[in-house]
Amino acid sequence: MTADRPTTHDAIEDARNRDIKIYINGELRHRDEAKVSVYDSGFMLGDGMWEGMRLYNGQWAFFDEHMDRFFDSCKAVSLDVGMDRDGIFEALNRTAEANGMSHDVHCRLMVTRGVKSKPFQHPSLSRSGPTLVIIMEHSRPVDRLQERGIRLASVPQVRGLPMSQDAKLNSHSKLNCVIASLQAEQAGADEALMLDPHGFVNTTNACNFFIVRKGQVWTSTGDYCMNGVTRRKVIDLCQANDIPVFEKNYSLYEAYGADEAFLTGTFGAQTPVDEIDGKRIGSGERSVTRRIQALYRALIGRETGGSA
Ligand SMILES: Cc1ncc(COP(=O)(O)O)c(C=O)c1O
Repeated sequence: MTADRPTTHDAIEDARNRDIKIYINGELRHRDEAKVSVYDSGFMLGDGMWEGMRLYNGQWAFFDEHMDRFFDSCKAVSLDVGMDRDGIFEALNRTAEANGMSHDVHCRLMVTRGVKSKPFQHPSLSRSGPTLVIIMEHSRPVDRLQERGIRLASVPQVRGLPMSQDAKLNSHSKLNCVIASLQAEQAGADEALMLDPHGFVNTTNACNFFIVRKGQVWTSTGDYCMNGVTRRKVIDLCQANDIPVFEKNYSLYEAYGADEAFLTGTFGAQTPVDEIDGKRIGSGERSVTRRIQALYRALIGRETGGSA
């Protein structure tokens, strides 16, 4: 990560993160001592699920929506979390308290099928219950990306059909996205713009993707991308504020010709896009993106009882 090769997850350097405590199955360990077994299903196979969440003003933003997705994902792969959403809530708050964190915090909640008895794939080899890890960091996205915008490259790696590996599963294995990210890097871009199996524009390797054309906001149908919490909130905000919004198929042709484009994700909220495949997007004026950003900040404020 360098100044000329940003990612959508670049945060302002915060020295406090060198000494954070990490939750592992009920224990809180200094990050240098926070370890899981080499037999863990997450390490061996990427067999686990995770959620990225944010804490503002001592409140978890959109906690219910994150828990809906987390528990649906775990249920879909028969992964017993070992606790309900109240238990997760307590574990999150315990970790925040142990770290003295209450605002501008990003959390990665991870659960895997646990430690295996042998180094092979079958889920039945995971016999000791799940591994639950919570990493929280002081985290504020860098301003640089807001001014400059992110550069995307469309890549050969596509989002798969739901019957191969449903993109809605927020699995530990992100190899599909990692390959896309590598392809974007090789093309000299910051992040990958991924198509669906029919060639329509779908999503980026780590965020959902929107364009703005003549005052209308477009995003993919949602069939092949992560069911992003931020994506949903942006669509709802547009609908509530008379900004025409459409979930529809469109191609790179329409993305290149857009007036504005932006990414959405819990970490960075809305990140403007500067170029796609070397083509500048719009004039750089970004008035609709800015309006949506303001609406989203106000929503976070209402949700968490303070300012975002
Ligand atoms: C591939 C992908 N797309 C989009 C997102 C954004 O989702 P959210 O808005 O819920 O953070 C994520 C985050 O987990 C992701 O992994």
